[in-house]
Amino acid sequence: MNQLQNETIFITGGAGFIGSKLIEKLLPNNKIIVFDNFFRNSLRYKDYMNDPNITIVKGDILHLEDIQQSLHQATYIVHAAGIAGIDTVTQNPINTMKVNMLGTLHVLEAASKLSQCKKVICFSTSEVYGQRAFRSSEHSEAVLGAVGEARWTYAVSKLASEHLAYSYYKQLGLPTVILRPFNIYGPGQVGEGAIKLMVEKALKNQPIYIHGNGTQIRAWCYVDDMVDAIYCALVNDSANGESFNIGNEKAITTINELAQTIIRVLQSKSSIQHIDNSTADIQLRIPDIKKAKELLHFEAKIDLEEGIRRTSKFIERENT
Ligand SMILES: NC(=O)c1ccc[n+]([C@@H]2O[C@H](COP(=O)([O-])OP(=O)(O)OC[C@H]3O[C@@H](n4cnc5c(N)ncnc54)[C@H](O)[C@@H]3O)[C@@H](O)[C@H]2O)c1
Repeated sequence: MNQLQNETIFITGGAGFIGSKLIEKLLPNNKIIVFDNFFRNSLRYKDYMNDPNITIVKGDILHLEDIQQSLHQATYIVHAAGIAGIDTVTQNPINTMKVNMLGTLHVLEAASKLSQCKKVICFSTSEVYGQRAFRSSEHSEAVLGAVGEARWTYAVSKLASEHLAYSYYKQLGLPTVILRPFNIYGPGQVGEGAIKLMVEKALKNQPIYIHGNGTQIRAWCYVDDMVDAIYCALVNDSANGESFNIGNEKAITTINELAQTIIRVLQSKSSIQHIDNSTADIQLRIPDIKKAKELLHFEAKIDLEEGIRRTSKFIERENT
């Protein structure tokens, strides 16, 4: 695989869960510019903050000029800034639409003016497949949920951002790549995340609450695997103009089984309690990752129990 060396990599949302983890992989050989409004902050967990190769810019992707001022030397762009997490989205639907659509438009517009930009990675979501996604491939129909059902604001905003990214590729030749992550978890997650919340409860032997009856099915992908996928997309030219499902098709459980696994692996005394679901839920979400295997040579490696152990070690360390 090609390696990235002596590049200037501009990361919007670089203070977030996935962006801040990606920096660890890129830093030794490259200059990193983090562009983030610090709505969330996972950088506080990182020990690379004094590295001379990292520059932190506090900025908002809703301001095109701020992006233009900060990214003019970038050779690669990873656009990970966004509004994510079901509770955050349902409480902030306007900002979700603005940041995920307009913010993405701004990043693409600024990138398209650079002469040296070799790649722009954009993040969509598995939620674009709607309520039932069984081994959905990138050619499967994207689903636009009903207006008025809060959850779909996120998927719609992300699908629009995909169309934007693809349009910049098609019309202007900007080398964009779209990644559709399926349930990423791991150390440093700062937003809502089922595994993070359950592990926190399990470590305190407190009840684990599950929305709905817990039969919803998910595939769980550890953050290091997600970072590997981003790296593969950065260095691989055949990824340009394409979208990819990124997930772990081997780490599949119901939400009930996930809670039971966490309790067992962490030897917790937590009970499991079911509560009402206030928003539409996704019953089934399992990726087909054949395309990522073939074009990116990506395959998730970390199994669920190992991922749970690593996540819990991190949370324990942070809380002591
Ligand atoms: N974590 C997952 O399971 C998952 C799944 C599907 C898609 N995604 C997408 O992947 C990307 C990264 O996800 P994450 O889990 O790291 O999320 P995150 O919330 O941890 O990180 C997003 C970052 O964007 C920043 N941000 C928000 N609004 C901004 C603005 N207006 N200007 C500048 N920065 C802003 C936040 O401060 C945060 O640091 C997001 O676009 C998300 O929608 C994540």
